[in-house]
Amino acid sequence: MTTDTTLTAVHDFARSKMRDDETGHGFDHIQRVVRLADELLKAYPQADRLLTLSAAYLHDVIDEKLVTDTAAASAEVRDFLTAQGFSADQQATIFLIMDNMSFHKTLDGTAKPLPLEGQLVQDADRLDAIGAIGIARAIYFGGHFGEKIYDPAVAPRTQMSHAEYRNLGNETVINHFYEKLLTLKDLMNTDAAKTLAAHRQAVMEDFLAEFKAEWQAEK
Ligand code: ADP
Ligand code: NI
Repeated sequence: MTTDTTLTAVHDFARSKMRDDETGHGFDHIQRVVRLADELLKAYPQADRLLTLSAAYLHDVIDEKLVTDTAAASAEVRDFLTAQGFSADQQATIFLIMDNMSFHKTLDGTAKPLPLEGQLVQDADRLDAIGAIGIARAIYFGGHFGEKIYDPAVAPRTQMSHAEYRNLGNETVINHFYEKLLTLKDLMNTDAAKTLAAHRQAVMEDFLAEFKAEWQAEK
């Protein structure tokens, strides 16, 4: 089977799993992450394209935020990859990437080192959390979970543990920028992603400055 045929099957599998999500992890997010990873691959031709793009397609399919039974979801992914002819080693790499790329594992220092392919997928996922798309996703997510847009009386909490991060009772959308989104540019693995992140960072900083000025009606 060719790489493209296999990637089409992975695309279809991921789409069937992600279609109904309403928290900003829908298939549109997946497609952007795949496109960004493919863009980053141009600067890193030594990376394995099939593994990189397959991990990009699948990276949220077994996430505990999206599925109640992660073991069952993982088994389904394994069966699918086996049927597509992925070797045991290839599957191990894809699972290593999916299991260790999250922001909370980075925060807690519990993430295993990612191979280059995983670094590209992680950078692509983080790029899709920042910039104009990042702003839209944060507001969409905040609305879905009943967060306030902003509360000047609630200071952002930085340097949180995973438990604290998961337990933000009075999180606001604006605080999420300070607690996570503005920190992502310094967590990019690759120079190619750092370049893209710099522009997206400026977009968020402009947005936050405008937002606060309008909130205070200082303009
Ligand atoms: P990941 O995509 O790395 O799994 P998350 O599930 O934490 O990350 O986030 C998904 C999207 O929702 C991201 O764009 C993120 O910025 C946004 N988001 C996550 N938590 C919050 C929050 N408490 N308030 C607003 N937006 C959030
Ligand atoms: Ni993601």
